[in-house]
Amino acid sequence: MSNLENKRIVLIVSGGIAAYKALELVRRLRDGGASVRVVMTEAAQRFVGQLSFQALSGEPVHTDLLDPAAEAAMGHIEIARWADGVVVAPATADFLARLRAGAANDLASTICLATSAPILLAPAMNQQMWQNMATKDNVATLIKRGLRSVGPDSGAQACGEFGPGRMAEPVAIAAALADLFVPQTLSGIRVLVTAGPTHEAIDPVRYLTNRSTGKMGFALAQAALEAGAEVILIHGPVSLSAPSGAAAIAVVSADEMFHAVMENIKNIDIFISCAAVADYRIESPATQKRKKNDTSLSLTLTPTRDILKSVTAQSMPPFAVGFAAETENLLEHARSKLERKSLDMIAANQVGVKGLGFESSDNELHVLWKGGQQHLAKAPKEVIARQLVGLIARVHGQKES
Ligand code: CTP
Repeated sequence: MSNLENKRIVLIVSGGIAAYKALELVRRLRDGGASVRVVMTEAAQRFVGQLSFQALSGEPVHTDLLDPAAEAAMGHIEIARWADGVVVAPATADFLARLRAGAANDLASTICLATSAPILLAPAMNQQMWQNMATKDNVATLIKRGLRSVGPDSGAQACGEFGPGRMAEPVAIAAALADLFVPQTLSGIRVLVTAGPTHEAIDPVRYLTNRSTGKMGFALAQAALEAGAEVILIHGPVSLSAPSGAAAIAVVSADEMFHAVMENIKNIDIFISCAAVADYRIESPATQKRKKNDTSLSLTLTPTRDILKSVTAQSMPPFAVGFAAETENLLEHARSKLERKSLDMIAANQVGVKGLGFESSDNELHVLWKGGQQHLAKAPKEVIARQLVGLIARVHGQKES
């Protein structure tokens, strides 16, 4: 079932050429099972007629804040209250500026101010306007306030220029809107996620590490938040910003990650061990920079502690999910890790293949647990993360009941 099923969506159309694409969006939203009420700004009505939106939505179109007849039928506050979600598509530079300022000088901006429903923006404008600091600043502020944004895409523009500013495709806007209504399967559940690589110092300027970027772990933290969980994210050195709402703890080495996890594991319901933790560290890192000479150099490596195993060895372990990054015999190695580390679930992924896993935006997982298994086909890590979190919530729920 689509997340949009039975949802009440207010579609605000502001005045840009992309307004014609909003017609297609109405169809997509209705295909997903949503009821749609369209609100048009005055400028939007110059681009597309009300009648088209009325025909596609099956509802009268709202345009006027001060028309007594329209207000009597369904007033601005009623529309704001009716909405489960608001989508502004297209969101012009002017509309974004008015939204940021908290303006309430027409029906569309007033509804945005008066609603407690989540708001999704689909910006569309000339590429220079999109890249202007004023617009960038407006969008950043609105996102900081909790609004979501999708697009814009890059490409040829109606004005003849080329660059970022094309409104996202209706199908992508509908998908982003559906993401606002993720079932709260982890409501009240505390989740700890580890992510990224670790750095093991050789000397003050060099270290041993691996190809993990942290993307998968950060996407899992985001997906768990969206599903209603309280999330702690303990991560190694990465160049990503932590999802807002997660308590993020940055560490460097495997040893630091071990201590951070152990200090925070109490009261955790679900532990997702996504970090690519170094298995070995340098036994005695040099305190000063090593100088080169002409002879070969041997470094003595000593095993690090297995964080995941230490968590499951506790007397009351949380529901534990491990990852198995393998270059060969994927399922065999994953099954053995599931047993060896006393896990509730393991997500196995093939590494060493271009376009998947480490250093890639996509992933493909084979998920195994005691009572079953599921293949999650290749998709962007954000999508895979939502699917895996859904699976974790289901199997964790079954274990608890
Ligand atoms: N892991 C951990 N602490 C370590 C090493 C690994 O918590 N010191 C966790 C990883 O986060 C992952 C799981 O253990 O969830 C499996 O990691 P992986 O590197 O695939 O396996 P290893 O146990 O290190 O075994 P091998 O390197 O031999 O495959």
